[in-house]
Amino acid sequence: MKLSEATQKLTRLISEETIHEKILELGKCITSDYRDKLPLVIIAPLRGSFIFAADLIRAIDLPLRVDFMEVSSYGNEMHSSGNVKIHKDLRDDIAGCHVIIAEDIIDTGLTLNTLLAMLQTRNPASLEIASLLIKPHKHALSIKPKYVGFSIDDSFVVGYGLDYRGFLRNTSSIYSVSDPSVLEF
Ligand code: IMP
Repeated sequence: MKLSEATQKLTRLISEETIHEKILELGKCITSDYRDKLPLVIIAPLRGSFIFAADLIRAIDLPLRVDFMEVSSYGNEMHSSGNVKIHKDLRDDIAGCHVIIAEDIIDTGLTLNTLLAMLQTRNPASLEIASLLIKPHKHALSIKPKYVGFSIDDSFVVGYGLDYRGFLRNTSSIYSVSDPSVLEF
């Protein structure tokens, strides 16, 4: 089955164009807010946020560094386990840096809370969150996200970096999955 055949069976929630426009908007806000707050470091938690982070950094008109962390809380399931495992840590020191975590999606907030707690011990000059998607009413975050792309309802979403069992990250739009049985690859 081709990817395009699989996505035809899904509901398109946010189009490529809408995502692009929103990221330009977020980039402008960050550019204006961080003009005098350098050095700026964007941290992309792998793997889901790599596409969002790649687009977001190019929408920010400031010099910045990018670093990556890999944590997981989902495994192959569609619900948060509450257990967060660190697979890969940052390469560089963030002490004295203004840090923005570019997150793909906040569901329960458990993953991000663990990251925030870890990063706060490393003495960044500031620490904020930019999340492309947020599922409202469920998260219990220690820091309110400063930049949010879209609030969505409680459906499971895929595409634009977000996966279902490792697949479907490579679509340009975001889709909601009501029936995962259509996604057997
Ligand atoms: P949280 O800890 O419940 O906030 O979950 C955060 C992580 O779970 C995200 O960074 C995603 O990797 C994954 N996740 C949460 N909701 C979804 C979804 O709807 N689709 C795909 N991945 C998701």
